[in-house]
Amino acid sequence: MTERNYERLYIGGEWVLPRSGKVIRSIDPATENVWAEVAEAGDEDIDLAVAAARSAMAGPWKTKITASQRGELLFKLASLLRRDAAKLAETESRDNGKPLRDTISEVQRAVEWLTFFAGAADKITGEQIPIKPSALAYTRREPVGVVGAILPWNSPMLLYSWKLGPALAAGNAVVLKPAEQTPVSAMELAKLTAEAGFPAGVVNVVPGYGNVAGAALAGHGEVNKISFTGSHATARRIMQDASVNLKRLTFECGGKSPHIIFEDADIERALIVATQSAFRSTGQSCSLGSRLLVQRKIYPQFLDRIAARAGRIRVGMPLDPKTHIGPQTSAEQLAKTQSYIELGKEAGARLVTGGGRPAGFDRGYFIEPTVFADVDNRSRLAQEEIFGPVLAVIPFDSEEEAVALANDVEYGLVAGLWTRDVSRAHRVAAALESGLVTVNSFRTTHPMLPYGGYKLSGLGRENGMEAIHHYTEIKTVVIDFDTAAPADPFQD
Ligand code: NAI
Ligand code: MG
Repeated sequence: MTERNYERLYIGGEWVLPRSGKVIRSIDPATENVWAEVAEAGDEDIDLAVAAARSAMAGPWKTKITASQRGELLFKLASLLRRDAAKLAETESRDNGKPLRDTISEVQRAVEWLTFFAGAADKITGEQIPIKPSALAYTRREPVGVVGAILPWNSPMLLYSWKLGPALAAGNAVVLKPAEQTPVSAMELAKLTAEAGFPAGVVNVVPGYGNVAGAALAGHGEVNKISFTGSHATARRIMQDASVNLKRLTFECGGKSPHIIFEDADIERALIVATQSAFRSTGQSCSLGSRLLVQRKIYPQFLDRIAARAGRIRVGMPLDPKTHIGPQTSAEQLAKTQSYIELGKEAGARLVTGGGRPAGFDRGYFIEPTVFADVDNRSRLAQEEIFGPVLAVIPFDSEEEAVALANDVEYGLVAGLWTRDVSRAHRVAAALESGLVTVNSFRTTHPMLPYGGYKLSGLGRENGMEAIHHYTEIKTVVIDFDTAAPADPFQD
């Protein structure tokens, strides 16, 4: 017997046994033991979930419930997450391996996000467009319909709020598929959506594997939109599968974000933020400052100091309050990180700290914070997303060189720069190919701020009113009240 058992899927407001007859065995990455079993959705289960969402869209959710009531339901969900924050955080720490202080703050942030979207629900309006005096032309923002939300394993609770918030505020129904590595918190979330009082079928939760349940959603003719967070390779697959009915798509993929430290930076603050940005969540974030570009004059000193700070990060058990970072979430991710460390050594980058497994762990997917210096920006270590605590440090001479290096990558999610020169701040911010640029901080995310990627980092935007627009279809209505006879080209 495992510690947690979830034998049923949440479909159409009911807890139903999976037609697939299968379960996902979820591993605690700190012990490598299976700690939970969760029902696995197969093709048939996805069909049922989509049908339930479709029928919710044909009922009162669309025809009777007001925008303000949708907002109230989201407020209720936010308050239930706040009530259960400690339990949800512990669940996530067990399933994902992040330390408790991170998972607690993640649940708190999910509450902030749901609260923002709750307040936005009754502010989604169309416009009236004055095409001529004798007509009323206006746009309606209608829900796109059934949304398939496909989630990753790195920040499950927070990202559920990023998908559910705007989708539900805009009046859609959602089929949510958590990642197979971290399905447990989604089952707890499903219970809370039921308690909050969302009508049956508005939220369905169906854990499953990407190539089965994920692909079934992406290729389903009755799903109108896919909102996906994960790798760009999978985004490409989804885009192909989604072409069957030209689904609307929002993608938030990875990054290899440049963090530029100019010589006039506030070094003390930059050091704290650069360390946090490179190693938080054991490197398992799309918006890591994983390429640190440092101006030549301050390069040796900055490198020494960030390496020393990296060496002091406490790697430990997720439930230990002293832990700074936990293990990687899966054996596959650990192997991927280790392979990039080997690659870095082979390519001749200078290993300054870390590179191995921390002392004192015989089990668990633990890895040391690792810093490579003098990295060639064209090398794979600098070009590819590792998703582990591995920082590539690269020197530069001029502002032009910094911008060129920063942009010389296939990704474009986040970029940061540190300078006291206000003109340079604006110049460089304008030149960077990135969906978010932060100056004298790194990766400020907020429910009010649009977030998303240039290039391979994504499609569309999450957060802010911008996100809501991506969950609506615009309908233009023209009412002509002209009394004169219309022009008749077929007269006689
Ligand atoms: P992935 O992109 O394969 O998985 C993310 C989600 O997509 C999961 O729910 C998975 O079940 C689903 N999925 C997989 N194949 C699918 C398909 N054919 N159709 C529909 N859904 C599918 O990412 P994975 O393999 O877990 O991680 C690999 C790398 O991807 C990581 O090392 C990291 O570099 C990157 N990644 C980036 C994330 C981000 O936040 N942008 C999150 C997770 C991974
Ligand atoms: Mg797990």
